[in-house]
Amino acid sequence: MKVTTKLEDIIESGLSESSIFKRREALQPEHIPSRLPHREDKIRELTLIFRDLTTSIDNTSIRVVISGHMGTGKTVTTKSFGKAFKDKLSERGLRLEYVHVNCHRQRTLYPLVMEIASSLKLPIPTRGLSVQEAFKIIHDYLVKRNVHLILALDEFDYLIKTASQEDIYFLVRLYDELSSSKRHISYIFIMRDEQDLSILDRSIKDHIIRNIIRFEPYGSGELKDILTDRVNEAFQPNVVQEETISYISEIYGRDKGGSGNARSAIETLEMAGKIAEIKNSPSVLIEHAKEANSRINVEAGEVLDEIPILELHPLIILKAIINLHNRLKVDSVPMGKLEKEYADLCAELGEEPRGHTQLYEHVRRMKLMGILETQQSGKGMRGRTTLISLAVPITGDLEELINRTMRSKIDNREEPL
Ligand SMILES: Nc1ncnc2c1ncn2[C@@H]1O[C@H](COP(=O)(O)OP(=O)(O)OP(=O)(O)O)[C@@H](O)[C@H]1O
Ligand SMILES: [Mg+2]
Repeated sequence: MKVTTKLEDIIESGLSESSIFKRREALQPEHIPSRLPHREDKIRELTLIFRDLTTSIDNTSIRVVISGHMGTGKTVTTKSFGKAFKDKLSERGLRLEYVHVNCHRQRTLYPLVMEIASSLKLPIPTRGLSVQEAFKIIHDYLVKRNVHLILALDEFDYLIKTASQEDIYFLVRLYDELSSSKRHISYIFIMRDEQDLSILDRSIKDHIIRNIIRFEPYGSGELKDILTDRVNEAFQPNVVQEETISYISEIYGRDKGGSGNARSAIETLEMAGKIAEIKNSPSVLIEHAKEANSRINVEAGEVLDEIPILELHPLIILKAIINLHNRLKVDSVPMGKLEKEYADLCAELGEEPRGHTQLYEHVRRMKLMGILETQQSGKGMRGRTTLISLAVPITGDLEELINRTMRSKIDNREEPL
């Protein structure tokens, strides 16, 4: 006899308190966790750089650049530092404001300045003022109240690429422009790639690059600690299995060929929880994490489907890219280096390497298939060259599949008579 559950019961159980999540908000990108495993040294570095504020809060201007790949904790670490540092100074009777603005949303200075004013709860006329005038009002306000402002400009790369040089210059050389002797504003410039600063004039650049703090991609052990904290905050006790946490950490850990991106790891954890909930499972298992990963990486899945249909030489090209990635720890490789690595691999495999034109053709075809991405190298490298990267993260699974497919093509190749 088939047992069917009454519809009302299904809905009733779905409406009742989640048996998986305790506080799902703790998995949202805006959530600021109470601890930041493996970023304690960065908080310390920031504290040491800003320590001078404790002795001369009304006449110091400090500038720091924070750089690092996606999801390496730049935003969350800076915000946490700003808040805690403000509280510590306040305990010492010093007045500090910390304002965090995102330049991705505000591509010109005007709305940016307005956002700063509104964060400071400073009413300023929204019309008829130039950026310079508005900034002067903010500065006068800080001087009058003897408040120091740490201004964190997040995703500063966007501002560099979209705002005019004059605007950037104005922002970072504020004191000369305002001809004020008192210094009340410090800056934290947050960006993915500090190379982007090279498009700025030397004089602006020198002004910005006094201190650089680099955030490295996370390794799998570090991600495991970060995820374990989130599991404790967001999930019901003993619901997420430890193997599940390890599995997710290994997908994204830099040491395992992953991106080192904590955001993707947390997203995968949340998705795994949702899948467990839908399946009415009492715990979050590896299989849920696997499914979460493939849902999140649909494209990666599609690429995996295409590998087996590739011919031998395109596979050797992919293998060469992975070798270079592992050896040089870079995401994209210049065409010249790729050609050399490919030729070496061909020699190892006893294959005649294809010529330059045919190699390009293979790369072009794999780009159309969505397997590879190409990009022209920017300034800074001698000449212009094509940079090639895989369109999906290089995981152990991908590497294994490429090796396996390559081997089977080699075993089945027709020996020349
Ligand atoms: N050390 C850490 N401890 C706890 N959570 C972390 C840590 N590092 C990053 N996270 C979490 O990972 C996610 C991504 O971090 P964050 O937004 O700070 O990255 P980012 O470096 O600013 O990335 P992007 O360049 O894409 O802006 C956030 O949810 C953040 O809370
Ligand atoms: Mg960020």
